[in-house]
Order: sequence, then C-alpha cells, then structure tokens
Amino acid sequence: MTGDSRAVYKALDLPSVLSSTQYPTYTMGNVIIYAVSGFSAIGGFLFGYDIGVISGVIAIGQFSEFMTGEAALDSVTKATVVSILLAGCFVGALVSGILADVFGRRWSIFGGSILFILGAALQAAATKLTMMYGGRVIAGLAIGSLSMVVPLYQSEIAPKEIRGRLISLQQWAITIGILVSFWIDYGTSFMEGTISWRIPLGIQTAPALILAIGMLFMPYSPRWLLDKDRDEDAWVVLARLHGNGDKNHPLVQEEFNEIKESIRIEREESVRSYSELFKGTVLRRLILGVFIQIFQQLTGINSIMYYAPAIFQQAGLQGTSASLLATGINGVLNMLATIPAILYIDRWGRRWTLISGAAIMGGSMLIIGAIMASVGKTIYNDNGSKSVDLTGHTGASYTIIVFIYIFVMAFAYSWGPIGWIYPCEIYPLRIRAKATSVTTAANWLFNFIIGYITPLLMDSITWGVYILLMCFCVIMSLSVYFFYPETKGRSLEEMEVIFGSKSSFVNGDEKA
Ligand code: GLC
Repeated sequence: MTGDSRAVYKALDLPSVLSSTQYPTYTMGNVIIYAVSGFSAIGGFLFGYDIGVISGVIAIGQFSEFMTGEAALDSVTKATVVSILLAGCFVGALVSGILADVFGRRWSIFGGSILFILGAALQAAATKLTMMYGGRVIAGLAIGSLSMVVPLYQSEIAPKEIRGRLISLQQWAITIGILVSFWIDYGTSFMEGTISWRIPLGIQTAPALILAIGMLFMPYSPRWLLDKDRDEDAWVVLARLHGNGDKNHPLVQEEFNEIKESIRIEREESVRSYSELFKGTVLRRLILGVFIQIFQQLTGINSIMYYAPAIFQQAGLQGTSASLLATGINGVLNMLATIPAILYIDRWGRRWTLISGAAIMGGSMLIIGAIMASVGKTIYNDNGSKSVDLTGHTGASYTIIVFIYIFVMAFAYSWGPIGWIYPCEIYPLRIRAKATSVTTAANWLFNFIIGYITPLLMDSITWGVYILLMCFCVIMSLSVYFFYPETKGRSLEEMEVIFGSKSSFVNGDEKA
C-alpha cells in the first residue's frame, strides 16, 4: 500500500474526530436522496411499532382476560407472545438475502410491506392465542425482511459522505415506531373490552399500505441494477439521485465508474455463493458484522423495550397507568436521542460513538444493579419466582428510572444506529445482500433470546440481570477498540482496501 492511500484510509481516533473540520460536502444537498431514504424508512417505523406495541398489550388486563381468562399473563405466555415474532424475523432476514438479490431491494421492500399487512391484520383480529401467534410469526417474517433490505437499499443509494446519516434515518423511524406504539397503548389502555388491544395492533396496517404503494414509485438501487448489467437504467437512477437528472454531472459519472469498476474486479475474482462468506477477508467482515449485531442486542435494550412497564413497576412505580406513562416517556427519549446520530454520525465516526455509548450504558446498569442489591428487599413469590421490592425507597426508585432513561439514550445515539449502519457498509457488492441477511438474522436470533429470557431472568436473578448486562458492555467496548476499523467517509467500494489487504487498520495504525 502506498503512503498516499495510507493517509487516505487512516482511521480516525477521538481527538482527530473532535477536531475534524471535514464535513460531508453533500450536507442537506440532495433532497431526492433524503426523500427516498426517508420514505423507505417507513419499514423501520413498522419494525419499531410492532416491537413496541406488544409491551402494552401484554401488560393490560383486557388482553389477558380475553385470551386466557386470567387477570394477568404468566411469564411463559408473555415471553411466547413477545418472542414468537422474533423467530419469524430471524427466518425473514435469512430468506431475504436471496430475495433481495433476485428481485431487487425495491421489490423486496414492497413484498415485506404486503406480508406485514397480513400479519398485523391477523393479530388485530385474533380470537385465540394461536391466531395471535400465527399473526406475529407472519409479521415477523415481514419485519425481519424489511430490517435487512431497507438499510441495504439506503446504503446503496447513498453518497459516502452521508451514508451513516441516511441509515440512521431507519433507526430513527424504528424509535418513532416504538414511541407511537407506546402512546397508542397508553391511550387505548383506558378503553373497555378488546378494542383496547385490537386498535393498537390493527392501526399499523395503514403505514404498511403507504409503504407498499409508495415503493412502486421509488427508484431501484443503482448498485443492484449495475450488478444485473442494467447499465442504462442505473445511469438514469444515478442521474436522478446525484445529478438532479443530469446524466453528465461529474458526480454521476464518478459514482457510475466506481461501482462498475468494483463489479468488474469482483467478477474476475469471485463466485457468489454463501460459501464465499466463510473465506478470506469476507469471513473477517462477517464475524465483525455478526458480532456488532449480537452486541447490539446484548446491550439489553429490548429487555427494556419489551418489558418496560414491568421493569418500571419493579423499580417502584405503582399501577399500570403510571408504568405505561413512564414507558411513553422512555419512547420519547429514545427517539430524541437518535437525532444527534442522524446529524453527526458521519462526523463522529463509528468507533468512538460505539465505545462511549457502551461505557455510559454499562455505568448505568452498574448503578441500577447496585441500588437494587443494596436497598431492595428480595421477595419470594408463591409461584417460586423472586422480585425486588423497593417500597419506601422513593429516592432509589426514581434514581433507577433516571438511569434506565440514561441507558436508553446512550443506546439511541450509538449502538442503535451503528448496529445497523456498520454491517451494511463493509461487504463487497457481490455478497452484500447475503452477508447482511446473515448479520441481520444474528440480530434477530439474539433479540429472540433476550426477549424470551428476560422475564425468566428477572424472576430468578432479579438485579443480577443488570450486572450481567454491564459485563456485556465492557466486552463490547473492548471488542470495538481492538477489532473494528473506522468506516466513516469511505465509499462502499473502498471497503475492499480497509478490509481487503493482509494488513488492517484499527485505530489508525496498520497492524501486520
Ligand atoms: C435497534 C434494535 C432494536 C431495538 C431498537 C430500539 O433498532 O435493533 O432491536 O428495539 O433499536 O430503539
């Protein structure tokens, strides 16, 4: 590697990030790119909504009474209602790796929206638990697919300077979906009868329909088109996206040539089967992509997203309404704290954002666990489960709630968006859809595991859950520091240089 390229590909560390004067030259420039990315992010909204809505549904008596005849659901039913969707997501993400290559990113998003409508309608109309489970599996297949294809699509229409920002839009939409669902849950929890949960579950078909119809008017991914040798079509899309319709715009030509060249090189050296994922530098990238997604889930963010009302009750809030309200505030903070990522992620870079986020999250978990362990009283319930009682320790309760909020905000500006950004940027085009489908499936698998075991862990090791999550945060920070190269500001084609040669750049230094 030449000295020049060394300088170009040198990853930045914190001091240079903070003093960096480089800022995306596109900034707010290209309205069409923002519009297309923003629109496709409705897929993220559906993802977030369906994740968030269930915490309120399982918390209200009307649902439990209708489905089981009991005032409250037992832990196993709760865990099954939540996590059966995630099992669907896992399969959906895996299958879409192939669909996104064969039918393209755009049609895959369209198909995902239609499937989602079916799953949501079944959940809303459920007359028994099995029908509910069926609806959640189908919605899961759709969400798993959308969660993989939307960021892939966004990354492939994005200029490198704002790629992080555009994919953050998807995460922002997820948080908006969660937020809206929390508040709809809160509002409908005061209603009598089954509409208290049928409305929140049914209403999500509307944005899905908008996404399906809108995708008919969105452009294809230019990278996918070029990969299919549809050069003329790709040129037209690139002109729309980067040159205000001008096919001779220098940015259009530059982008076209760069993608074309990388495809030519890839074709010379490669086969395109899944087996390629396990070879050479792609394997290293696969491991990094899979682990960043697994780590994103091991933060425990979804323990809070799915079981927030129960966690707030355990932290001392009395009654369903108070805890649903606290959950609603949680949704607002999650959404607001994602905004800095949208604005600055392409300036801050990925590495230090991840490390700082993990440090704050780990600190918050340690404080929560320590407070519960020291002032809480362990209660042994009749069904054999344990819980922590904080009655009479109002200060401790509020401190815990504040640190749950701090934890969520730290996640929202860091691991939330970057968990989705990083895997979309590191793979060669020939294998990108398949690789991101594997990394996304890993995300859903661990989402499933966390969703399933949280209530069981809370019933058995109570505050130990928080200490466990803190340990994960420490492991995550160290892993990012030692193994994850910076990717901000590099074109997707340049990733070959960052990851491709025998040497790798971590923290700006060349490691042999
Ligand atoms: C990320 C995670 C998702 C989580 C959400 C919370 O998108 O992938 O699992 O629910 O953030 O904002």
